[in-house]
Amino acid sequence: MGHLLVAGGAGYIGANFVKYLLDHTDDHVTVVDNLSTGRHEAVKALENRFGSRFTFLLSDLGNAEKLHSFLHKNPVDGVFHFGAFSLVGESQYDPLKYYYNNVAQTLALLKTVVEHEIRYFIFSSSAAVYGIPEKIPVKEDALSRPINHYGKTKAMTEEILAALSGREDFVYASLRYFNVAGTDEELLTGECHDPETHLIPIAVKTAMGKRDHMALFGTDYETRDGTAVRDYIHVTDLCEAHWAAFKKIRKSGDPLIVNLGSARGYSVKEVLETVKDVTGKDFKIIEEGRRPGDPPVLIASSEKAKTELGWTAKRSLEEMIVTSWEWEKKNRK
Ligand code: UFG
Repeated sequence: MGHLLVAGGAGYIGANFVKYLLDHTDDHVTVVDNLSTGRHEAVKALENRFGSRFTFLLSDLGNAEKLHSFLHKNPVDGVFHFGAFSLVGESQYDPLKYYYNNVAQTLALLKTVVEHEIRYFIFSSSAAVYGIPEKIPVKEDALSRPINHYGKTKAMTEEILAALSGREDFVYASLRYFNVAGTDEELLTGECHDPETHLIPIAVKTAMGKRDHMALFGTDYETRDGTAVRDYIHVTDLCEAHWAAFKKIRKSGDPLIVNLGSARGYSVKEVLETVKDVTGKDFKIIEEGRRPGDPPVLIASSEKAKTELGWTAKRSLEEMIVTSWEWEKKNRK
């Protein structure tokens, strides 16, 4: 039995991954999270479900003293780092908050990781590092030209990781997520952002009547129906890819940068139609101008993930929406 550390494991994606690890391995899992955006309810749900195989450490990721004292007594085999602020709009008007949390705290975490000779580090990066890509589907060797501070924090962290990759005792994987949605089948750890800005949870909340209407940002893009196109990936597929990436770098000893997407694009209108179909509810959509910082089209090339990890996204957009809808229904109670 091993021991894995999940930084930011009380957030939506982190908590889904903790559940995945506890369901699919014999390892002990410790979450370190300061609960600034992570949820105490997610920690409670994991504790109730997995008992003594799960430990929660309330701490900033950059709190070296706290982490040292924990890791000294509890050595770990690898770190999965999900902890970040992730609102693109907010990063534009409060960049310091983003560079401090996403870069400086990660740097401090990395220092601790290296000092404790933890060899494997899996980083949650983002398609936001590409900015507006020249070619679609976008491959990993496309230029990194982020157009917002959130994307820049991810690109800067990738630079820092690359600088560490010369070390004998450190191997990393940087996983560039596209648009993550849905929740685990048991509905233990769903999406709960405050404020919510993502398309699928907003549409599902509107279908449920929690909102009177929703906005559709941008109808004049050069796409098949004028609305922006994104590559949506089910959070459980994403979890599977993380585990595959961990196994891969453990075996190869080489750093890895890989896109996590489905290689398939849906327009905002197509997503909203699918939400209406799946939920059986009609709802009011108000067409508005483009949201600043939105690229027109983002679709992953998933070739590298297939070759390097033997992984492809299996779950459909409908499955993302169904689980998101079921999660909202559960929370309504
Ligand atoms: N959208 C609407 N109405 C809404 C919310 C979103 O029309 O109420 C549109 C957006 O304008 C965009 C599309 O739906 O065109 C998808 O928007 P999301 O906010 O769901 O997702 P993003 O593509 O903006 O963001 C995702 C990740 C980010 C990451 C980014 C990379 O959530 O963390 O992809 O581009 F930075």
